[in-house]
Amino acid sequence: MTQAAEAAGLAIRNVTSDDEASVRELVTAAFPSDMEARLVHTLRHCGALVLEQVAVDAGGRIVGHIAYSRVTPAAIGPGQGMQVVCLAPVSVWPDLQKTGIGSALIKASLESLKDLGEDLVLVLGPPSYYPRFGFDPVLAREVQGPYAGDAFMALALTEAGSRDLPIEVAFATPFEEFE
Ligand SMILES: CC(C)(COP(=O)(O)OP(=O)(O)OC[C@H]1O[C@@H](n2cnc3c(N)ncnc32)[C@H](O)[C@@H]1OP(=O)(O)O)[C@@H](O)C(=O)NCCC(=O)NCCS
Repeated sequence: MTQAAEAAGLAIRNVTSDDEASVRELVTAAFPSDMEARLVHTLRHCGALVLEQVAVDAGGRIVGHIAYSRVTPAAIGPGQGMQVVCLAPVSVWPDLQKTGIGSALIKASLESLKDLGEDLVLVLGPPSYYPRFGFDPVLAREVQGPYAGDAFMALALTEAGSRDLPIEVAFATPFEEFE
């Protein structure tokens, strides 16, 4: 358990099949449409998810959710053996946003990714939010794919993650709807 999760009175754990309905409700509520909830569902069922975790409050309610899916490096170049994931989406119930749940979930899940041996994490999101966790738009310029610009950020979890660049990557097929 990270300090942030403990301070917020949260337990962070991997998703189980029993969580599927609660997660769908939460992700649908967090975003303007059900596109992200459908993305989670499709990523899960096509086997693209590398890590999926929830934040649970003291009463056992799921209050936050995060998903990371496999990103495939191009077959040539120094980064071809790198383990790359994409953070998307992360969701907190609207009435509980800005109370630290998202931060606790992101910090704890990044630790889990390190334990899994992941090298590089990519995200597309607000440049005002993700740099606090170490995500960097400059590092992401070394990652060629369908996304570019300041909202596209990268975080290296290992030495290889910042060393074996540039790389060209492909995201899991369900992301094509978002390109
Ligand atoms: C984005 C989200 C996961 C953050 O979780 P959270 O629990 O609300 O955030 P935290 O309490 O940990 O952090 C609060 C900080 O995040 C900032 N923040 C929250 N949502 C933000 C957003 N959409 N864009 C930019 N900053 C945001 C707050 O302004 C606050 O900043 P401060 O610390 O400088 O005051 C959550 O707000 C959410 O579910 N939003 C709707 C879905 C969404 O936009 N997901 C991310 C898409 S990539």
